[in-house]
Amino acid sequence: MYPIFTIVHRTRRSFLSLGRTALHWCKWTFRRRAWFILPALFLVSACEGRQSVLDPSGADARRLYDLALVLFVGAAVLWLLVGGLFVYVTRINPRAMSRRAAEALIIGGGVIFPVVLLGGLLIYSLPLMSAQRSAPDGMRIHVTAEQWWWRVEYELPDGSRVTSANELRLPVGQRTGLVLNAQNVIHALWIPALGGKADMIPGRETYLSFLPEKVGIFRGQCAEFCGASHALMAFEAVTMTPDAFAEWLDAQAKDALVPETPAAIRGAEVFAREGCGACHTVRGTPATGLVGPDLTHVGGRVSLGAGILGVTIDDFANWLGHTDALKPEVDMPTYDFLSQDDLIALAAYLEGLK
Ligand code: CUA
Repeated sequence: MYPIFTIVHRTRRSFLSLGRTALHWCKWTFRRRAWFILPALFLVSACEGRQSVLDPSGADARRLYDLALVLFVGAAVLWLLVGGLFVYVTRINPRAMSRRAAEALIIGGGVIFPVVLLGGLLIYSLPLMSAQRSAPDGMRIHVTAEQWWWRVEYELPDGSRVTSANELRLPVGQRTGLVLNAQNVIHALWIPALGGKADMIPGRETYLSFLPEKVGIFRGQCAEFCGASHALMAFEAVTMTPDAFAEWLDAQAKDALVPETPAAIRGAEVFAREGCGACHTVRGTPATGLVGPDLTHVGGRVSLGAGILGVTIDDFANWLGHTDALKPEVDMPTYDFLSQDDLIALAAYLEGLK
């Protein structure tokens, strides 16, 4: 164990060197400072975007953003004042002080001021915790995390559900509730631009709600390490006007389109022959599997493979032929044994399921 005076000595020495660094910074020329400030500006400019907490597009994300800003400014004020006071008395104006003045400085600057400031920040932030758990006034969506994709079910007013996957559609201006669950391990749902995150725990429902403010496509990501392909477990959150959302949901509730082009018709035959329906559902066909994502309208989604590919015929063919390379340890087998013509036909069939 360190003798106590060694600790005191080292602490004093590191504080003094901190003071020296701060003083040094104050003396720096603007040109030298620019070397630090410019890269920081570039970093900040990268904060804009569809997967950023610093570019909020929903009421919940905006509340978190405001909270972060207030806490950051409060912390900066505290740090600058206490640090500045320290630099002033140790470096800029070091002189002997009466015991009374020293005590007033330590108790006022080191105890009372931080307690008042941090207490104020606490009082400001506590009520926001309950606001983050606002009850939904719109529809409920059930999202189940699977290995490594998202099962998404929209609950209709009559209690029936419309099943989709790997994409979350939300109406703007309504608070939609999410009922979260997981199939096998703990995952977490997070759409940084729309709000906070929540764990998804097997056998236990958790809840989250979002009130999107802007029409757009935002990126969601699993935020809890869940295995080999955790980083490849993303999805798109599409926010729409209420009318467009209602129209979209009506279309989603319908059965799959019947293939019409020769390639898609052949693709449907390959789908049936290879037994894809054992794992996947395509409503309106004999395929009723529940293991993998519902494919009834897979061609109309924004992404494929839970946010890792687009939805062109090439993307479908790429996915079918390289599942294990694109998403390590995924349950979906690789169909690299299919002839090139069969693979393209299958891809054309799936792409056509709008
Ligand atoms: Cu699912 Cu990480």
